[in-house]
Amino acid sequence: MNIILVGTQWGDEGKGKIIDILSAQVDYIVRYQGGNNAGHTVVVGDREYIFHLMPSGILHKKKICCIGNGVVIDPLVLLSEIKAIKKAGIDIKGRLKISTLAHVILPYHRILDCLRESKRKNKIGTTGRGIGPCYADKIIRCGIRMVDLLNPEVLSEKLKDNLKEKNEIFKKVYRHSGYDFNPIYKEYLNYGKLFSPYVSNTAHLLNQAIIDKKDILFEGAQGTFLDIDFGTYPFVTSSSTTSGGACIGAGVSPVKIDKVIGVAKAYTTRVGEGPFPTEFSAGFGKFMRERGHEFGATTGRPRRCGWFDGVAVKEAVMLNGISELAIMKIDILDGLKEVKVCTAYKYKGKLFKEFPHDLEVLTNLKPVYKTLAGWPKMRFKPRCLRDLHPNARSYLKRLSDMVKAKIALVSFGSDRKDTISLD
Ligand code: IMO
Ligand code: MG
Repeated sequence: MNIILVGTQWGDEGKGKIIDILSAQVDYIVRYQGGNNAGHTVVVGDREYIFHLMPSGILHKKKICCIGNGVVIDPLVLLSEIKAIKKAGIDIKGRLKISTLAHVILPYHRILDCLRESKRKNKIGTTGRGIGPCYADKIIRCGIRMVDLLNPEVLSEKLKDNLKEKNEIFKKVYRHSGYDFNPIYKEYLNYGKLFSPYVSNTAHLLNQAIIDKKDILFEGAQGTFLDIDFGTYPFVTSSSTTSGGACIGAGVSPVKIDKVIGVAKAYTTRVGEGPFPTEFSAGFGKFMRERGHEFGATTGRPRRCGWFDGVAVKEAVMLNGISELAIMKIDILDGLKEVKVCTAYKYKGKLFKEFPHDLEVLTNLKPVYKTLAGWPKMRFKPRCLRDLHPNARSYLKRLSDMVKAKIALVSFGSDRKDTISLD
């Protein structure tokens, strides 16, 4: 079975935990888009791992983990993750595969990300990791790929070309001194050497795995509403975070995909700028943020919090072809007198049942809520759906009915064990 797993909100849905659980059932785990703007947290016993580039399945011995062509790689970050994994006693020999075609983040991408953001009137709230500028270079066809790091002549020529243009921009637009060729060239050639044992044609590897009837999990980063096409543009990331991105970013045909699983928090969070229809008021937002420990795994920034947005998640179910949902952090809603679910939006007297695209509408609309009775704090860890309070069950049923997807998993804590399966 080949499964794509995607976030249905604005990222940070808890994808890391579900990927870790599903990894036990597959042979290959593939990251296919994004870069180290992602922060996937996996808790095993009393250890917490945060992965930015490394597929979250790496903790499972014997599984092959791929970083696909659609990912943008900051070599320094990947090296430090490889080191940390080895230090934790996890053997990755022969298990980590990096696509020859993955594009590489260079120092000028990181700086450009921050300089551009500083000039913008409406800030995006980028993580500043150079993701946008690296994808921009890929699309305008001057990017540097993993395979280029293995060829000194090609790297030299491409880097020279890039620096010629970029240094002009740095100096004239941003009053920045720009970059010298030699230090970057040496540094990146060295990365090429260090990564060469891992670099390969991952599309071939994955397609052979499919022929051999192996199972693959495609690990999405970010979330549907950060998608470059379908997200709240321009407050989005620079890749296709929806399920279609998995095929492009891994080199696997859509006809080989069996199922798409979506991950949603029982409420909503967003880090960075941009419209957020169901955002809580400041006071309640702070209360819920502390309750849910909603601080970014990548930048440590406080996350904005809000009610579950049924309009948005329903849109995500459609865009991704989600048949099953994992609902995360239901325990964070425990003890509230009442809980709300957004069922529609209202703007200038007009009712919207579908996610609007006009930024003005999205920014100024008012959510229409259905209020449901809350439930007390759980006194013991539930092992099945029946162990949940009836009001919590009604809440889940309401979500499922609204977004038109079956809830397959409910999670109420960070540990692997704090999960119930509804199958
Ligand atoms: P995971 O995989 C939450 C957000 C940033 C910013 C916007 C653009 O952990 O769910 P970028 O650095 O990509 O140019 O930033 O996207 N963002 C995320 N928010 N979780 C993520 O990843 C994110 N990756 C990017 O905060 O608003
Ligand atoms: Mg994150």
